[in-house]
Amino acid sequence: MFKGWIATGALALCCMAAPLAETQQKPVDAEGHQWWQHAVFYEVYPRSFADSNNDGIGDLNGIASKMDYLKDLGVDAVWITPCFPSPQVDFGYDVSNYEAIDPMYGTMKDFDHLVAEAKKRNIRVLMDFVVNHSSDQHKWFQDSKSSKTAEHRDWYIWRDGKGNEPPNNWLSTFGLSAWKLDPKTNQYYYHYFYPEQPDLNWRNPAVEKAMLDVTRFWYKRGVAGFRLDAVDTLFEDPKLTDNPVLPGKDKFGRPNMDEKYNKKLPEVHDVMRKLRSTADEYGSVLIGETWTSNVSELKDYYGEKNDELQMPMDLMMTGFKGLSADQYRKHIGAVDAAGHWPVYVITNHDIVRSYTRYADGVHNDDIAKMMAALYLTLRGTVVMYYGEEIGMENNDPKSKDEVQDPIGKLGWPLEKGRDGERTPMQWNDSANAGFSKVKPWLPVPATYETHNVVSEQKDGNSVLSFYRQLLALRHKEPALLEGNYVALNESDPNVLTYVRRYKDEAILVVLNMSATEQKAQFDLSPLGFSSPRLSILLTSFHKPLTGMTDALPMEPYSVFMAKISPTSAGK
Ligand code: NOJ
Repeated sequence: MFKGWIATGALALCCMAAPLAETQQKPVDAEGHQWWQHAVFYEVYPRSFADSNNDGIGDLNGIASKMDYLKDLGVDAVWITPCFPSPQVDFGYDVSNYEAIDPMYGTMKDFDHLVAEAKKRNIRVLMDFVVNHSSDQHKWFQDSKSSKTAEHRDWYIWRDGKGNEPPNNWLSTFGLSAWKLDPKTNQYYYHYFYPEQPDLNWRNPAVEKAMLDVTRFWYKRGVAGFRLDAVDTLFEDPKLTDNPVLPGKDKFGRPNMDEKYNKKLPEVHDVMRKLRSTADEYGSVLIGETWTSNVSELKDYYGEKNDELQMPMDLMMTGFKGLSADQYRKHIGAVDAAGHWPVYVITNHDIVRSYTRYADGVHNDDIAKMMAALYLTLRGTVVMYYGEEIGMENNDPKSKDEVQDPIGKLGWPLEKGRDGERTPMQWNDSANAGFSKVKPWLPVPATYETHNVVSEQKDGNSVLSFYRQLLALRHKEPALLEGNYVALNESDPNVLTYVRRYKDEAILVVLNMSATEQKAQFDLSPLGFSSPRLSILLTSFHKPLTGMTDALPMEPYSVFMAKISPTSAGK
């Protein structure tokens, strides 16, 4: 199995002080990789990150004030979810003006200040572009609904009903029908999300032009790119064919549907190409909210000629139930073999936090570290969600009255909404977790007393310390930056083992994904290491590593990372 190797005790603290990579300053590295391929992206939900004016809601100056924290953590780019003027029905994903800042978050001057503060630290700022729909309060929609002949009528999707019924059986993903009757003109408009979020008609060239111009507006202001919201639903079948009904009911008690006629239509890719060529004019990057059910669908979003999204997010791991080394191994292997640059995500503002999804009540922090090591050591780019690095957990509403997210009100109790994963960032153990001096818009979970930035910065074994060490390695080690992914010991149902290999550099990553101690065995000789020497880079072990004879003892849910080198003569 494995023989003759020596584990040096050189624990990774030596790496912690390593300077972050200079990649951001170089457009392309020796392997032809661009800055975003080695960047760590960090999603900020502005309502919940830091409240500088103490009104209970986070803001841009709050984000700007935390730039040193982000830099120190190892973040290279922040994606800020929508901070444009909005009635906040969907907490910003209902945009009423694409080219301004909501006063709740600050001013355009504050935005420029934030970009400048980020730039000083080599951190890029990306915005969130809500391409599928606007708010019903947007002036385009206000004009559109004013009459059938209004200038902007065809900027949205209006149709006659079928008698007293909507035009077809399409459903809004947020409950009820996807059509709303507007009494003024006696026609229905289409909304895949809330009725306050009418879908834009991307078949209208004027819409396309206006939206591409929005991206130019922000690129000129120094924005490094966009996360594109809800791209799967940009187009609908013009004939409005009914979707096939599937067995069973959804969380809102409606029949399940195969959304064949209003999701992932081929025309989506034409728009992706146009957004991309506009982004290319400014050297910008596009991240996609790409919900795919398999690797082939994900591949499509890169474009046949690599001319669509640079970073379509692989959101598939967020749906994995439980922790299975087999399931992760198969998925990672397939994504890695697909030939593109993967973009791994384990959670975001719409998905239960990974800490809560996998916590077993006994090894919670160990599991958080293990998940961190998993997505931060793979080939590709990562998009982190704020608070993951301190092991934040969901704080779901306890009753329907507490719910803020409208889908939670409509779907209670099966659908509790997304408040739980959007709670204020936990900065310290003072009142409101140091997020605000007043009661925040959402309640902080009780765990803020132990899981907060200040406490975890002081604890070398905290989730935060582990993240910082991992991110430092990720920025510094050529094998993690450039290396291939080579799966080892592929039949082990409990331990996920792989090597990242680049030229003479190789790093071994061993992750025990089970609740019991495992003896990990692997053979490095097919990689050309017959008597390898392993120098430990980082582990999450609680006890000193002993007893390595023919197997590596792995504590429950633990991480072992080591640099592999051939044993030199005489050693
Ligand atoms: C996806 C966003 O992430 C989510 O928060 C939002 O509600 C929908 N798109 C609609 O914009």
